[in-house]
Amino acid sequence: MTDAMPEPTPAGAWTATTTGAEVAALDDAGAGPRTFEPGPAEEEEPTVTLRVWRGDPSGGDLVDYTLPSEEGEVVLDVVHRIQATLAPDLACRWNCKAGKCGSCSSEINGKPSLMCMTRVDELPEGPITVTPMRTFPILRDLVTDVSFNYEVARRVPAFAPPPAAPGDYRMQQVDVERGQEFRKCIECFMCQDVCHVIRDHEDNKRQYAGPRFFIRYAELEMHPLDTNDRRELLRQRMGLGLCNITKCCTEVCPEHIKITDNAIIPLKERVVDASYDPVAWLGRKILRRHKRSPEEAAAHPR
Ligand code: SF4
Ligand code: SF4
Ligand code: FES
Repeated sequence: MTDAMPEPTPAGAWTATTTGAEVAALDDAGAGPRTFEPGPAEEEEPTVTLRVWRGDPSGGDLVDYTLPSEEGEVVLDVVHRIQATLAPDLACRWNCKAGKCGSCSSEINGKPSLMCMTRVDELPEGPITVTPMRTFPILRDLVTDVSFNYEVARRVPAFAPPPAAPGDYRMQQVDVERGQEFRKCIECFMCQDVCHVIRDHEDNKRQYAGPRFFIRYAELEMHPLDTNDRRELLRQRMGLGLCNITKCCTEVCPEHIKITDNAIIPLKERVVDASYDPVAWLGRKILRRHKRSPEEAAAHPR
């Protein structure tokens, strides 16, 4: 560097084309303000950092993994690259990578999300936190034990159509469509994960079905050919009254099922009708209609 070499501007590096002597000559000639083209700044390779919870039932911690970022990736892609390069023992559950199997549920930046449907470039800048679903017991890393949900599923009294010859069942298209919305469920259990009734109160799991199963109950209760009455079961054993309609479950559902509006609220109305409506009560008294106990409803179809 010569004495005449000016200090680089903070904007960037000098170009290699202006020598110190030429700069001094320009100065002496009073040729006006000096301008220097910043050379190509040394470009840093863009990276992505995943802050992943690692551990098992005995405890764990968040671990940062930084990799070169790749365009168009979803969080599950980055997890797979971490497994391939930095942490082959990182456990996560996935299957379809298309938002349809419901396996890759986790909490991304604290929100229940499918890893395979969450684009990295749509998340805020900075490390992306990936943690397991908090409502279920940890098995390892991002994998939780969701068997609570299968136990609840087993307790749902089955569909019970009246006796009829095959082909004799008829139902309106409007009734078919009502149930179809609930059939879209992919059992990702993110609605169960976000529901504060069991997320913050482990004890409630003994007496609470949760939003995923309220839509199953709703589907059966709204079926015009079903003869089971599950309303007392919902009220006494499945904790429908514990839901205070916060709609958090609806907000996280990847299938956009209107869990609260189309399932939980209509179920609550039906339970109130069955239990507290004086006209319905009078009707039952006059007609001496037997209302089935939760045990009877749970045990079997009529
Ligand atoms: S609306 Fe009810 S079921 Fe859904 S998250 Fe809130 S409390 Fe849970
Ligand atoms: S209702 Fe929606 S959020 Fe809940 S398990 Fe089904 S798909 Fe997942
Ligand atoms: S891998 Fe199937 S839903 Fe994400």
